[in-house]
Formats: sequence, C-alpha cells, structure tokens
Amino acid sequence: MVEMMFRDNLLSGKRILVTGGGTGLGEVMAEAYAQLGAIVYICGRRINVLEQTAKRIGDATGSTVKALACDIRLPEAVDELVAQIWSEGPLTGLVNNAAGNFISRTRDLSPRGFNAIADIVFRGTFYVTLACGKRWIEAGDTASVISILTTWIWNGGPFTVPSAMSKAGINIMTKSLASEWGPHRIRLNAIAPGPFPTKGAWERLSPQSAGGSGSSGYIPLGRVGEMNELANLAVFLMADGCEYLTGQTIAIDGAMHLASGGNFASLSKLGDSDWERIRNEIRSANEQDRKERAKETRVSV
Ligand code: HXC
Ligand code: NAP
Repeated sequence: MVEMMFRDNLLSGKRILVTGGGTGLGEVMAEAYAQLGAIVYICGRRINVLEQTAKRIGDATGSTVKALACDIRLPEAVDELVAQIWSEGPLTGLVNNAAGNFISRTRDLSPRGFNAIADIVFRGTFYVTLACGKRWIEAGDTASVISILTTWIWNGGPFTVPSAMSKAGINIMTKSLASEWGPHRIRLNAIAPGPFPTKGAWERLSPQSAGGSGSSGYIPLGRVGEMNELANLAVFLMADGCEYLTGQTIAIDGAMHLASGGNFASLSKLGDSDWERIRNEIRSANEQDRKERAKETRVSV
C-alpha cells in the first residue's frame, strides 16, 4: 500500500484511466487512486503485466482495477479502448503516463528511432486525450487530466531529444487545452518528475555501460524521489477541491533541474565505443520487452 496524506475514500465515485499503469510510476498512481476509492483502468501493451498489476492492486485495496491491452500509438485502438471504458460509465480522470525513451546521441538516431518515442509520447498521448475529451464535452461532464512530463521541457534534453521534444509538445497541449476546454470544466495539469528509479526508465536511461550514472547531477534534497511523494501529488491534482488549478506543470525533483539541469548533458564526455555498448545494452532490454509483448495475443481491447 502507498503511504498517503489523504483521507479514506477521497476519490470515491471517480473513474480514472492511467495509461502505462502496469508498471513504474503509472502503477503507483493507479494504486493510490484505488486505495482512495476510485475505480481504476490501466492500459499498456503487455496484458500479462497489466493483469498481474490489476490483481495485486485490487487485492490490496479492495477497489475495482481493470486491465485493458491497448497500444496508444494506434488511434483506432485508443478509440476502441475508450469506447469500452465508456460502455461501463464515463471516466472522471485521465493520467497520460505511458511513454518510451532511451538515451542516444541524436546523430545516431534514424527517423524510425525518433518515431519510436514520438509515436508514443507525442501522438499517443494526444489520441487518448482527444478520445476522452470529445466524450466529456459532448456529455457536459467535468474531468481532470494529468500528463507525466519531465523537467527537460524547460531546459532541453540532450541525448533524449525525441522525448524532450515530445514532452514539450504535451506541455503546450496542457496549457492550450486548459484554456480551450476550461469552459467545459475540463482541467489539464502536468507533473514533471525528477529521478524516481523504475526498471523501465533505468534500463534505458541509466544503463551500466553509461556508468549507471544517467542524469547524475546534483540534487539539493540529496536523494531521488520516493514513489508515495509522486502519488500524493497525482492524487491532489485529481481530487475535488482544487478545481481552479489548471494549465500548470509542477516539478517534483528535489530542485534538481534548478541546481544542475536535471538532464543528460554529462554524457557529452562519452565516445563512440561507449555509445556502442550503451546501444547494445538498451537494445537487449527492448528485446526482452518485445518478447513479452509477442507472447500476448491481443494488441488492443
Ligand atoms: C539508437 C535505437 C535505440 C538506441 C532503438 N532504436 N533503441 N536507436 N539507440 N538505444 C531505434 C531502432 O534502431 C529502430 O530504428 C527504432 O528505434 C525502433 O526500435 P525498436 O526496438 O523496434 O522499437 P520498439 O520495439 O517500438 O520499442 C520502443 C522503445 C522501447 C521506445 C524503443 O524502449 C519501449 O517500448 N519502451 C517502453 C518503455 C520505456 O521506454 N520506458 C521508459 C520511460 S522513462 P531502425 O531505423 O534501426 O529500424 C522516461 C523517463 C524520463 O521517459 C526521465 C528520467 C529522469
Ligand atoms: P515504465 O515503467 O517503463 O513505464 C512506461 C509505461 O508505458 C509501461 O507500462 C509501458 O507498458 C507503457 N507504454 C509504453 N509504450 C506504450 C504504448 N505504445 N501503448 C501503451 N502503453 C505503452 O517507466 P516509468 O519510469 O514508470 O515512466 C512512467 C512515466 O514517467 C513516463 O511518462 C516517463 O516519461 C515519466 N518519467 C519518469 C521518470 C522516472 O524517473 N522514472 C522521470 C520523469 C518522467 P508496455 O510496455 O506494456 O506497453
């Protein structure tokens, strides 16, 4: 269970979709919402992973947690997912958390390498937001959207350029739609986490061949983030009581980006052979996930 700062049943009556909710930060946010009484949907590409997570959280919290396979890069799959959820009742909240990323020199990227990230983060996030937003507006429902970004949206992401560009796009989507959809009482905010060690991020951003260093800059608070801290912020932004708060992106990084950039600029010192080792290590992590996905029979709901 997540250590929470809120009263029991704070989110009772809420119905929330967390994309990429089977692992990492998505999993902890899904757990926090379920713990506070919400009905939670989690989606991703690996249905086995999602089902295990949904069962674990459901058993721990007693709330309903549903696992649905969906590749958010595919607009038709997204629409099918959202239609299936709405057939059970409208969502009241969406967390755009699903993402892909890896460190690479930008000059080593192919167009497909760029799209591997942009199709998930930039386009996929928009497809999900749009599919939900249309339904909310048509029904006149109020809703809260949270997008998980990075602090690179403010100062750039050397060696993670497709992610930085895509997350910056979603940052401006947040601000644009906060204004456009404000009259419909749909609010959009974003969270920019600093380092919160997860398997998915660390394998691709902090591989051993890069010295496991990753974004190893100075963190004034002297430590990485703790999962319950992120979950508490994600609950606050989702809950009733802060309806006037919209269009904002909140960093939760122990002041790292203010003190030392919070990005991968320090990787400039690496040479060709270092990058070859890093690429191979990241590719074997990707290969492992691909094998898990290949085991699945369904790619969408
Ligand atoms: C250069 C690479 C590469 C690498 C892949 N590519 N890895 N290029 N360096 N290390 C290129 C490939 O060569 C290929 O282009 C293209 O990308 C597609 O590769 P695939 O392996 O087929 O991609 P795919 O199976 O679609 O996998 C997508 C993925 C993968 C994004 C690459 O990592 C993934 O599924 N990730 C999901 C989970 C994830 O990334 N979690 C971390 C989020 S953390 P060519 O031209 O060769 O065919 C995060 C944290 C931010 O965002 C902040 C931390 C502080
Ligand atoms: P993670 O565990 O790898 O989470 C990424 C999730 O996205 C996975 O569950 C993955 O599931 C899902 N996903 C990827 N591609 C998808 C697709 N096409 N369709 C549907 N789902 C997809 O990594 P994480 O660290 O928790 O990252 C979560 C979020 O936090 C991301 O937005 C990331 O950018 C952000 N973030 C993390 C950190 C950190 O320090 N961890 C810092 C800043 C920001 P499948 O592979 O099964 O699809």
